[in-house]
Amino acid sequence: MRIAMIGTGYVGLVSGVCFSDFGHDVICVDKAEKKIEMLQAGQVPIYEPGLDVLMAKNVAAGRLSFTTDLAAAVDGADAVFIAVGTPTRRGDGHADLTYVMAAAQEIAQSVTDYTVIVTKSTVPVGTNRKVHEAVLEANADADFDVASNPEFLREGAAIDDFMRPDRVVVGVESDRAAEVMAEIYRPLYLRDFPILTTDLESAEMIKYAANAFLATKITFINEIAGLCERVGGDVKEVARGIGLDGRIGNKFLHAGPGYGGSCFPKDTAALARIGQEHAYPMQITETVMRVNDGVKHRMIEKIRDVCDDSFNGKTIAVLGVTFKPNTDDMRDAPSLTIVPALIGGGATVRVVDPQGRAEGLALLPGVEWCDDPYTATADADAVVLLTEWNEFRALNLSDMARSMKSPRMVDLRNIYSKSAARKSGFETYIGVGR
Ligand SMILES: NC(=O)c1ccc[n+]([C@@H]2O[C@H](COP(=O)([O-])OP(=O)(O)OC[C@H]3O[C@@H](n4cnc5c(N)ncnc54)[C@H](O)[C@@H]3O)[C@@H](O)[C@H]2O)c1
Repeated sequence: MRIAMIGTGYVGLVSGVCFSDFGHDVICVDKAEKKIEMLQAGQVPIYEPGLDVLMAKNVAAGRLSFTTDLAAAVDGADAVFIAVGTPTRRGDGHADLTYVMAAAQEIAQSVTDYTVIVTKSTVPVGTNRKVHEAVLEANADADFDVASNPEFLREGAAIDDFMRPDRVVVGVESDRAAEVMAEIYRPLYLRDFPILTTDLESAEMIKYAANAFLATKITFINEIAGLCERVGGDVKEVARGIGLDGRIGNKFLHAGPGYGGSCFPKDTAALARIGQEHAYPMQITETVMRVNDGVKHRMIEKIRDVCDDSFNGKTIAVLGVTFKPNTDDMRDAPSLTIVPALIGGGATVRVVDPQGRAEGLALLPGVEWCDDPYTATADADAVVLLTEWNEFRALNLSDMARSMKSPRMVDLRNIYSKSAARKSGFETYIGVGR
């Protein structure tokens, strides 16, 4: 199959590289010239474990290339995937479809033979039909079908998720489009990964429903954590106890500083907005968004408590600022709410993150960047563990405690235990929900 992938962000680049590894001929397109220059030079513009090696392998095999020339990439392609951003529209929470519709119009002008135009971006129900109309409007003679193929990969584990998915969802309206999609995903089908072929609207809704459900699960355990802090109980034990129930499952039950990232905040907001526009409020999702906001602010109060009720004049070391480990993505990371509150309260904030610095420099003005956790915590009044990078899972707590002005730890990921921290010389240890 010949595939054009429009957008080389976290989803487009991973999908393009993986499709080429399936044996397809893939051209990845982006408007951002700098990104394409880097990719053509063999550099990966994002941090995603394993992506550099897989990319190099498929470029060397002649199956993968990069261009800014959308028309050339689309000409003769069997399928064109739209994997551009759908951020929150300013003001109302709706998914901003500007990039998707712009891509659709450009594609329309370049399609030659029969092509399936596939939306991989997360888009509200009805968008694929709008893409269909937009293409026809721009090119009445275009021979094409649209398909919805939402993506479920997780940053940090994206390649494995793409190669070994829980399921692939495909929304189509014609047998011809279904055949092209089946051919593209044949390597997964042959290995018995479930491929759900359905209608356009169901496919679009599956993506929002999945993300809203996961955001709800995280928020539920975060709320239970808050109650544990008042009435007793350790949320880690509670999560284990309920997670062993097969109906509940143990994933997404880690209490922490609230969900963030490039998907959950914007997708819950978009789903809530869709509900409002159709006079059918998504009450659970709206509550989840509100509670999650409260969780982040509760974390600030936790840190303030440990700092004797004032950030003023304190030096606080923050370990991890990306929204989760193994990514450089800072979009909607809890750190973007928490760190400015510390600085605003008069604290000096030192930050360490294995991959977040390049993005974080602009997003977290006023922090001091350090290269390792021990430099960051030397002479500090408190350390906040905010993102659970492996690098922070086996710290020498005794060395750390000894070098701090006052050895106090706020562990927002429950990596350590109170007894271990105390034994290592920390005078205060506070986790989440314990
Ligand atoms: N990031 C994730 O973990 C994830 C997971 C599942 C689904 N999604 C969805 O996938 C979509 C893409 O997300 P992302 O994180 O990869 O976004 P991203 O912002 O990292 O990448 C989008 C890319 O598209 C490019 N682009 C925009 N318009 C273009 C055009 N007309 N032609 C060529 N390139 C264009 C941009 O320059 C950018 O490089 C979103 O809808 C998102 O909700 C993301």
